[in-house]
Amino acid sequence: MAFEQLKPGTLLCPVPAVMVSCASETEKPNIITIAWAGTVCSQPPMVSISVRKERHSHHIIKETGEFVINLVGREQLKACDYCGVKSGREVDKFAACHLTPVPVPEMQFTPAIGESPLYLACKVEHVLELGSHDAFVARIVGMGVSRDIMDDTGKIDLRKADLTAYSHGVYYALGDAMGFFGYSVASPEVLERRMKELK
Ligand SMILES: Cc1cc2nc3c(=O)[nH]c(=O)nc-3n(C[C@H](O)[C@H](O)[C@H](O)COP(=O)(O)O)c2cc1C
Repeated sequence: MAFEQLKPGTLLCPVPAVMVSCASETEKPNIITIAWAGTVCSQPPMVSISVRKERHSHHIIKETGEFVINLVGREQLKACDYCGVKSGREVDKFAACHLTPVPVPEMQFTPAIGESPLYLACKVEHVLELGSHDAFVARIVGMGVSRDIMDDTGKIDLRKADLTAYSHGVYYALGDAMGFFGYSVASPEVLERRMKELK
């Protein structure tokens, strides 16, 4: 394989583009679309989001130390894009996108987005000033899952969420399941059974 050496860029993709909600005592609920988000620890469960200082949401999250990550399915995608091109300084994005703010028990001010299939309620533990972006590293203190993506036994079936991905400026639907954790070493019986389940 021959590689061209290009100047370094943030081409880690695909990533989830998520809708992050925030609010404070003085600021009404707002939504910012974030692609620079990721899981950083499982025990305790922690995530990071990177936000430019000039975003309206930045000072809200910095002040309250809380935010909610709302996952984005196909049906929420247009709103997700809108929340990434309009600022809460000028527009009420919940109202403009016909989204429902839903109270979250662990959050003092911040609602979740009622239309989202799953939310993670987060409390900021570290703020890393990295350059263009500040990374808010936060503990996940609560999680809400829409009943629409649960099966009869109460198990989460994320396929029902119809989640989307973001890759270098373009949004995609997730495609077919190609395997599962450990499938490369699974027995033929397990492989067949699990792949049938994932169809
Ligand atoms: C797909 C997508 C991903 C984005 N990712 C980020 C991000 O990771 N960090 C960031 O600061 N802004 C990101 N933005 C830009 C903000 O969402 C945008 O500037 C938004 O209008 C800020 O809203 P606010 O001023 O109400 O906070 C992204 C926008 C889009 C469309």
